[in-house]
Amino acid sequence: MSSISPQQLAVVVAEALAAITGAATGDELKQVRTQFVADGSPISVINSTLRDVPAAEKAEAGKIVGQARSEINQAFAARESVILQAEEHARLMTESVDVTAVASRHRVGARHPLNLLMEEMSNIFVGMGWEIAEGPELENEWFNFDALNFDEDHPARAMQDTFFVEPVDRHLVMRTHTSPVQIRSLLTRELPVYIVAPGRVYRTDELDATHTPVFHQMEGIAIDKGLTMAHLKGTLEHLARAMFGEGAKIRLRPNYFPFTEPSAELDIWHPTFRGGARWIEWGGCGMVNPNVLRAADIDPAEYQGFAFGMGIERTLMFRNDVADMHDMVEGDVRFSQQFGMVI
Ligand code: DAH
Repeated sequence: MSSISPQQLAVVVAEALAAITGAATGDELKQVRTQFVADGSPISVINSTLRDVPAAEKAEAGKIVGQARSEINQAFAARESVILQAEEHARLMTESVDVTAVASRHRVGARHPLNLLMEEMSNIFVGMGWEIAEGPELENEWFNFDALNFDEDHPARAMQDTFFVEPVDRHLVMRTHTSPVQIRSLLTRELPVYIVAPGRVYRTDELDATHTPVFHQMEGIAIDKGLTMAHLKGTLEHLARAMFGEGAKIRLRPNYFPFTEPSAELDIWHPTFRGGARWIEWGGCGMVNPNVLRAADIDPAEYQGFAFGMGIERTLMFRNDVADMHDMVEGDVRFSQQFGMVI
């Protein structure tokens, strides 16, 4: 039988309280708990000796031990809550979230400016009631050259540096221009025909600042009764103004193409050109050669028409002041993003 000394109990409580007050962090508090509160700590050891206390003293001993334990437990709980709060506060401060920050989002891409430009130009023609036509990029030589009035030995055939596709006796080429779509449209559509054909074309050029072996053109052809050069000029003038503003104008200079007669070089007066308004070579055009109409089974005595074609890369270069062709072919999304239409 042993009894419990209030003095000893007071020392144990004082030590525990001092340790609890001295704990500054959650980790320190954990150690304090093991040492002064949990099983095996002095107060719990004393508590377990209660059973050996003589029956007469048990009630009193139980009471003072119980008070001592609850004093320690309460002090511990109070300290714990202070420390947890402080730590939580510190964590929130360092982990603070700036709700005004711009959310970062994945880049998904942007439409290519060449496609946007072809669409813009096409829309101007659709607005005039024209239709959009297409043809294959791997083209029959007959459509690319013969039907367009290039003679077998015509020097103009060599003028265009052609990718001939093997086996050569199949007479397939990567189309060198969008003009074969003229013939395909005339052969498959009802007259009158008013179409534009934007698309990709191929020539054996090396890639440099102003050339690329794969590029884009937009072709146009109108076949109807009584069409004249005035219709051609009016149409191209409208295109120029719609794209470059009311200050834009065009001029035609005599030239040669086998598929048009007369043929002309198309220049545009670019009113907002960087470095000052000026004339810029834009494309070719002319009245459709009667031989082309005959190749499409159309009677030149009954129907006439005009045609034109221009490069899209070239148009983008002088319209948007793009100095280097590499930017158009490399596919860096940052280039495309400058033109809007981020998707
Ligand atoms: N096909 C010509 C070229 O690639 C451009 C062209 C000129 C198209 C005159 C036409 C035209 O329709 O009438 O250089």
